[in-house]
Amino acid sequence: MLKNDQLDQWDRDNFFHPSTHLAQFARGEAPNRVITGGTNCHIEDRDGNKLLDAFAGLYCVNVGYGRQDIAAAIAEQARELAYYHAYVGHGTEASITLSKMIMDRAPKNMSKVYFGLSGSDANETNVKLIWYYNNILGRPEKKKIISRWRGYHGSGLMTGSLTGLELFHKKFDLPLTQVIHTEAPYYFRRDDLDQSEEQFVQHCVDELEALIEREGADTIAAFIGEPVLGTGGIVPPPAGYWQAIQAVLKKHDILLVADEVVTGFGRLGTMFGSDHYGLEPDLITIAKGLTSAYAPLSGSIVGDKMWKVLEQGTDENGPIGHGWTYSAHPIGAAAGVANLKLLDELDLIANNREVGGYLNKTMSDALAGHGNVGDVRGEGMLCAVEFVKDKDSRTFFDGADKVGPQIAGALAAQGVIGRAMPQGDILGFAPPFCLTREEADEVVGKTVKAVQQVLG
Ligand SMILES: Cc1ncc(COP(=O)(O)O)c(C=O)c1O
Repeated sequence: MLKNDQLDQWDRDNFFHPSTHLAQFARGEAPNRVITGGTNCHIEDRDGNKLLDAFAGLYCVNVGYGRQDIAAAIAEQARELAYYHAYVGHGTEASITLSKMIMDRAPKNMSKVYFGLSGSDANETNVKLIWYYNNILGRPEKKKIISRWRGYHGSGLMTGSLTGLELFHKKFDLPLTQVIHTEAPYYFRRDDLDQSEEQFVQHCVDELEALIEREGADTIAAFIGEPVLGTGGIVPPPAGYWQAIQAVLKKHDILLVADEVVTGFGRLGTMFGSDHYGLEPDLITIAKGLTSAYAPLSGSIVGDKMWKVLEQGTDENGPIGHGWTYSAHPIGAAAGVANLKLLDELDLIANNREVGGYLNKTMSDALAGHGNVGDVRGEGMLCAVEFVKDKDSRTFFDGADKVGPQIAGALAAQGVIGRAMPQGDILGFAPPFCLTREEADEVVGKTVKAVQQVLG
């Protein structure tokens, strides 16, 4: 085994880490952490620290770490057949079984699932399918995609454009022109503090209508949104938001893409976020919870309405010109089958509802009264605490003060991982679904201490 200092040097000399301050890391000014193992909600690092991972990696290890059933399924698949492609009608028992399991769980009116490897590539697929769809329908002008500020949909060229966070655009020449952004359904950050939740929903609708009017409905193909804003701050929508937005989209013949990369397969306490909020999407993006990240796998679930047109397109033009070498990779598919089985066998979505509700309530009871806590919010096994400089006037801290990262750091020092969300001073939690009440208590208790250490 390599010595820690050797590994540290190799890491800083060779490894380009995503979402990392490259210069500070290379200079040794930012910490690194080498993870060596994990069981249920805990991970271990190379220095022997055991940490309660209350963000499930990147909200993806939904069934928890160290699940031997999934590891065994992966090993067996690798031994039997590590790879074959899925082009021109090829498949494996694992990929075909997984497609059936997904469609059995999907909301109504969905037709087929296309497999990719990441949430980003699944959303790239979605955009291509949307463009293809409108070309087949003879509407070549209807191509723009509406996304929301603070939405997160990946970091590719198109998906980074869909993402509505400054850091993902600045200096990258994004967003591309085909993407336009509208108001985030973020009631706590509304401009007009006097607005009721209902009025704020109407404001979101008005903004959307005005955007459609400005651009022209005949140029707009689709609207993409996460049922609950995730990386943009873990923000459940205000009541009635999705019903009101969907009515506008229907009126203008605009497709709806539900990006369920975080919410798919149980995170909100229902199989899909679309079930939770009554969404009727034309496309659903899935990734993370599909395999609980035991292997990379994502998917685009295509609704009946689009599917018919895709079939028509191939009758007119030949096979669909889209595919990745690793689409429906058998190892990912085997992980997916084992993961979805485990989710059912352990009834983890029910635990998620129960303990997630408990986590949200205890967090709110413990912190809502603190002078610098502006908002405690969540849904299912998602929870966020937003910090403010002054509560009454809802004045935010200066980003340079790095209040969120400081609190996340103070929490990690006590052995609990939360995530300082990238825009604003927001501490996010998205634990594995197997979280126990005792672990929820530990997360809340240590968060309170971390907040006190940083803000008093
Ligand atoms: C809602 C949503 N969509 C898409 C993505 C992109 O997924 P990936 O990082 O696998 O490309 C993410 C990642 O966090 C996400 O949260």
